[in-house]
Amino acid sequence: MSGEHLLSKLAIKNTSGDLEALLAFKSATKDQYDELTNPSGVLNLGVAVNKLQEEVILKKLNSVNQVVKEDLEYFDPTGTLPFREAIADIFNRHFNVHKQVESDQIMVVNGVTSGIDVITSVLCDPGDAILVSEPYYSMFVTDVSLRAQAEVHGVQVPLEEIQLPSQVTYYEQKLKELASKGIKTKMIIICNPHNPTGKCYSRKAIGALLRFANENQLFVLMDEIYALSVYRGKDVSSAGTVESSDDVLFPFESILSWSNLEEFIDPSLVVIVHGLSKDFCMNGFRIGWIVSPWNKNFMEAVSVTSVFSYQASLVNSMMAKVLGDREFIDGFINLVSTNLLDAYNKTTSYLKQNNIPYTPAQAGHFLWINIKEPLLTWKNNNLKPGEARLTSTDQLTFDDEYAMWLDTVNRGRIYITAGVNFKASEPGWARIIFAQPWDKLKVGLDRLLAFTTSSEPQS
Ligand SMILES: Cc1ncc(COP(=O)(O)O)c(C=O)c1O
Repeated sequence: MSGEHLLSKLAIKNTSGDLEALLAFKSATKDQYDELTNPSGVLNLGVAVNKLQEEVILKKLNSVNQVVKEDLEYFDPTGTLPFREAIADIFNRHFNVHKQVESDQIMVVNGVTSGIDVITSVLCDPGDAILVSEPYYSMFVTDVSLRAQAEVHGVQVPLEEIQLPSQVTYYEQKLKELASKGIKTKMIIICNPHNPTGKCYSRKAIGALLRFANENQLFVLMDEIYALSVYRGKDVSSAGTVESSDDVLFPFESILSWSNLEEFIDPSLVVIVHGLSKDFCMNGFRIGWIVSPWNKNFMEAVSVTSVFSYQASLVNSMMAKVLGDREFIDGFINLVSTNLLDAYNKTTSYLKQNNIPYTPAQAGHFLWINIKEPLLTWKNNNLKPGEARLTSTDQLTFDDEYAMWLDTVNRGRIYITAGVNFKASEPGWARIIFAQPWDKLKVGLDRLLAFTTSSEPQS
């Protein structure tokens, strides 16, 4: 028998999924649009990167890029001390911490993706359930399952309750439902600020979820990867104009800032992740970190596996210099929120002008948009033989949404993320990334509208 057939059961399970979406993603990243060199390439409005400060961060990186002999050596796989000290400094100066974060409470990993894998392996057994409110960042599913073999179970929270404490009732129902099937729930993930809606949770909502987790002895993974990418409603004075009744602005409050955390939960159940990819615009460096000031056993257990999430020594030394430069970092963090606000305003004006509803956001690189009308037009222009015309958006299905999404990448040459990937509650939602220069973004939005509403049928 050939070795090709002798893979582990886990590997076989991991490779047996639907590869169509992966291929579309590959084509979007391989054949990227460039105004001059590749105008027919795919315009990427799908991958959450913030391109607005590219020149600033490149200049800074090139100024600290010097290789010394220590960079050739092995080092502490949980991250070099100067780097962990620089990360602690970021928390202590920018997360309004209740108690100073220490460098030994931090473990550096190669990306938050890797961090979630490590955390899940340490906290969950195969088959354990992890609750996440829908819509959610789709990669949570693979992050917790590919190696750790835990499973995300979505909790359907209506959009209007996503910032509110009332959402806890949906978690309670899900927990009961899983228990009745003999499935053990071990953890909840709270993504605050939230991907894909760009909203911040109210303190009351987090409090209710913490109490729920505590009562049921569940770990709480706080994914705060967009903590410093808040651009509206950072505090009362910068709240700006409220756009509509669903535009409820809460300031982002890191779990590290809670002075009375013990009143809600045993803090040893709480873990935080953050990293370079979003707030510092360096996705490609593949660096994230896990923080748990309250659970030494947990930190020991994750650090045992740190040899598998080792990063380049050179990146540690460069990042110690970049994050350790307080003047640069403070200016950079301000610039990020100013630029995001500007891009958000331009994008939302465009959406309003073109009658595309969206969920008002306050953080992150994305907007959660309602594309039911373009989807209906696309669907009716691309009916299969024998299919009847649809008369209302209520008749749309997730299959229609998926088919349009594939067509949008393959023929329309725009990559967005379809709501079905985030487990949206109904067809016709998508996430677009607006944190990119307006001239390129506008080409993408124009293409998206023109393509979905054009009467040219699917080939
Ligand atoms: C909510 C959330 N968590 C984690 C990640 C993964 O980040 P990293 O690049 O550090 O692996 C992302 C990336 O899009 C994200 O949006």
